[in-house]
Amino acid sequence: MPKAPSEPIQQPVYIVTGGAGFIGSNLVAELMRRHPDAHIYVVDDFRTGSYANIVEACERAGVGPFTGTVMPDDIAELNWQPAIEGLQPRAVFHLAAITDTLEFDEKKMLGVNTEPFSDILDACAGAGVPLVYASSGATYGTPPESESRTPFPESAAGVPQNVYGFSKWLMDAELVRHFESCRREGERLPHVVGLRYFNVFGPGEGRKGKMASMVWHLTNQILDGKRPRLFKHGEHERDQVFVDDVVACTLAAAEKGAAPGVYNCGSGRTTSFNQIVEAINEALGTGVEPEYFDMPAEMIATYQHYTCADMSAAAQAFGHRPSWSPMDAMMKYARQIVADRQRLGLPIRIDSVSSGATA
Ligand SMILES: NC(=O)c1ccc[n+]([C@@H]2O[C@H](COP(=O)([O-])OP(=O)(O)OC[C@H]3O[C@@H](n4cnc5c(N)ncnc54)[C@H](O)[C@@H]3O)[C@@H](O)[C@H]2O)c1
Repeated sequence: MPKAPSEPIQQPVYIVTGGAGFIGSNLVAELMRRHPDAHIYVVDDFRTGSYANIVEACERAGVGPFTGTVMPDDIAELNWQPAIEGLQPRAVFHLAAITDTLEFDEKKMLGVNTEPFSDILDACAGAGVPLVYASSGATYGTPPESESRTPFPESAAGVPQNVYGFSKWLMDAELVRHFESCRREGERLPHVVGLRYFNVFGPGEGRKGKMASMVWHLTNQILDGKRPRLFKHGEHERDQVFVDDVVACTLAAAEKGAAPGVYNCGSGRTTSFNQIVEAINEALGTGVEPEYFDMPAEMIATYQHYTCADMSAAAQAFGHRPSWSPMDAMMKYARQIVADRQRLGLPIRIDSVSSGATA
């Protein structure tokens, strides 16, 4: 458990829960780049994260080795109030969660994702410390906007279709209750922002295994010499957002002047699964056709066949506008996956991919 320091802290401090995970490690590296004088506390129990994510993210960002503190603790077991009061961080980024959307143990999911949030929220609000936490596009389920194929406004959430989405929805609902109580008491709203990340892809996700993005899976299928496998007929569309944009959005939400609330964090555009394959083919100089297969019957009713974040509220609340076109980011990322495989000596089983063609 983090102890209150015996000396007043001179350096600015940031806390990142889930900082050894995919998005968290990219966030840690970007914080180091923007604030070289800061001391970063990572709180992560390493259930899906790894030290290697932090090391690699720092290498990619060219910020030198990580020199912060890692607390290998379960967020549910930390005593948040004294920790926040002692460390007086400039901001807390709360990303730790069970991220396996196929985890069906509901008690476990809510116990990890939802329950500790109250303590973190109360501790940050009480100490006047900005808090940004990771919610999810899974809080939307399949709202009417997915039928009309129009971007999801924040108000459309609340009918999640798995317990993971429900665990995130409960966090958002708790924040709204907290704000209502502040308004009743005539108090200023604390600087707390929930961000509903949509489908995030980018470097550092490989250790998520089956939970890595479709961009990662489809690129690796092609590089393994296989045809990329898609549900029939690859026309489902998702808001796929590059991790660099997610990190930028997360940091913008912690800036002074950001309006408290719950906002979308996506690209604001849709990409079909066929288009993902197109982007990868273009990046790799290949022309591999997808192999289509039937969606399992039990998935049909709850499958998110269309998601798109309406990004207008985030733009208004803290000036965030996604800067990456998803297709451009996918091409850059596919080339990086090739380079990573070459560096690690992993085979690349397609003739047309060579180091020259993919540089
Ligand atoms: N990647 C996406 O597409 C996406 C989409 C929507 C929301 N999110 C949210 O963004 C956040 C980061 O996700 P990610 O993709 O980087 O996943 P990830 O699994 O790589 O990262 C989660 C991190 O949290 C840590 N963790 C889990 N439970 C913990 C606990 N009880 N105590 C301490 N640490 C714990 C894990 O070890 C891991 O390092 C999560 O909250 C996730 O729900 C991600």
